[in-house]
Amino acid sequence: MKETKLRKVVIIGTGFVGTSYAYALLNQGLVNELVLIDVNKDKAEGEAFDLNHGMAFGAPMKIKAGDYYDCHNADLVVITAGANQKPGETRLDLVTKNAKIFKEIVTQVMASKFNGIFLVATNPVDIMTYITQKVSGLPKERVIGTGTILDTARFRYLLGEYFHIDIRNVHGYIIGEHGDSELPVWSHTQVGAIPMDRYAGMKDIANHPDMKHIVERVKNAAYEIIDRKGATYYGIGLGMVRLTRAILNNENSILTVSASLEGQYATDDIYIGVPAIINEEGIREIIELPLNKLEQEKFNESAAIIKEMTNTALE
Ligand code: LAC
Repeated sequence: MKETKLRKVVIIGTGFVGTSYAYALLNQGLVNELVLIDVNKDKAEGEAFDLNHGMAFGAPMKIKAGDYYDCHNADLVVITAGANQKPGETRLDLVTKNAKIFKEIVTQVMASKFNGIFLVATNPVDIMTYITQKVSGLPKERVIGTGTILDTARFRYLLGEYFHIDIRNVHGYIIGEHGDSELPVWSHTQVGAIPMDRYAGMKDIANHPDMKHIVERVKNAAYEIIDRKGATYYGIGLGMVRLTRAILNNENSILTVSASLEGQYATDDIYIGVPAIINEEGIREIIELPLNKLEQEKFNESAAIIKEMTNTALE
């Protein structure tokens, strides 16, 4: 692992997600150096120019279009490149296309002697993160996917709206695939320190119609947005900045990321969304929530879908 921290981030892919992330980094003044790489070099250069011209209104940092050599001393390489979901497409539909792109990208990053942390956002993110770890050979704790960080934020937002509670006091997790098989952990969802079912007076909260509707809205959020504006990028871009902050500031924060399981949640050898403690070394520890029978069954189903798609990607 790198000794001194340059607070240098390289973004591979300057599409909507990559540039939303870059713009948020500039706004939050989180990094000292930002390098943009894209197969379309003009696009990367144009984005760098545009961001640099806003520097006076943001935070001082170096921003440039670069190439894979720039990864050699980066703290973080963030991959957003690849095909994204079109209306009606699931995230898993992208697996073959993006698996091929990723093998090329990660090979080029490692040729620079990169020795930092990978953050993967490209969908299907659980499978793309698995491929990144396999191709790079970096320790599993240093290859992190955005996982269900955005799904968890959507879940907390909708619960906060429903109960008129500050989102920062709504505690709960969406785990599993970042996709159609994800699941809420109702048995560990709280308002402040009060279990959600007790606070809401909902004995069987998982089957309460309003709560089932909230979970459906979380699961379908991306489709609803893509149908209306063609893509999603602000939410995930901000989630990536939150993850970047936890890493660069050595926060030891708990976030739901795509992490490699080795027996936790009765699962192994896949990347899947779970709560984990994040710091400058990457994933310090996976938080293993004691799931109830239904939650474990749904998690197993989600893990099986990821395992099958991971095998497809490796073919
Ligand atoms: C979404 C994309 C990031 O859920 O998959 O908006």
